Amino acid sequence: MAASLIVRGLSKSFGGFKAVSGVDLQVEPGHVHSLIGPNGAGKTTAFNCISGYFKPDAGDILLDGRSVAGWGSHDLVAAGMARTFQVTKVFGELTVLENVALAVRSKARKNYNMWRAADASPVVKADALHILDRLGLADRAETMADHLAHGEKRVLEIAIAMALKPHMLLLDEPTAGMSGGETERIAILIRSLTDQATVLLVEHDMHIVLGISDTVTVMTQGSVIASGKPADISRNARVQDAYLGAAERAS
Ligand SMILES: Nc1ncnc2c1ncn2[C@@H]1O[C@H](COP(=O)(O)OP(=O)(O)OP(=O)(O)O)[C@@H](O)[C@H]1O
Ligand SMILES: [Mg+2]
Repeated sequence: MAASLIVRGLSKSFGGFKAVSGVDLQVEPGHVHSLIGPNGAGKTTAFNCISGYFKPDAGDILLDGRSVAGWGSHDLVAAGMARTFQVTKVFGELTVLENVALAVRSKARKNYNMWRAADASPVVKADALHILDRLGLADRAETMADHLAHGEKRVLEIAIAMALKPHMLLLDEPTAGMSGGETERIAILIRSLTDQATVLLVEHDMHIVLGISDTVTVMTQGSVIASGKPADISRNARVQDAYLGAAERAS
């Protein structure tokens, strides 16, 4: 069952700088919920707090109603949360299949100690292959991860996250650096994952965001300025100002 996620009053500072300040989020089970905002808005910092890479300074995080604020990333994986990173993280010297099998094994170990000695288990391999098949990477199973094209590497990261059997999946800019065609493909893929997991997505491509999201939350300068259905968000004057303002500052 896809999970629900509620974030209340989440804050995180670096030195005196408030990167995330009093953020509230309500992510419904089975939804694709996008977190958008200009560069430096605090999206990745919020992700890092939610997924246990940073300890929040304040606030609560409820996964299926259970408070998980301050939990480490391993405990969160056991509780059903997985994430990908803004910058690609795969084991380049391992094959695609080995990368996914490693994740399958790490999850299995956590849950079932009897699997500890079963590293080369055909069950693990079959599960990993099934995930690759679902994500359209099965024909690259024996390829060294470092030899994949950029877009395929990003899909491999999602495959690794899915191997952790999450009910809550956090994706940080999964389409960054992809071509238009690849972006479309991954958007459809992300939408299709909601039969297993709720998806919280950081994405800059507004076409994707508006196309696949049930809900969109907009952050600027550490705070949420709007949250709602894609159509309402795209018409929201504050949101338009925030994007225009950021674009003007950058030019
Ligand atoms: N580990 C850190 N130490 C100090 N400052 C940080 C750290 N991580 C992020 N920041 C700062 O916090 C602010 C928010 O950064 P964050 O990476 O969360 O933004 P973002 O919304 O993900 O941006 P982008 O769209 O560029 O990925 C930025 O000003 C950034 O420089
Ligand atoms: Mg970021």
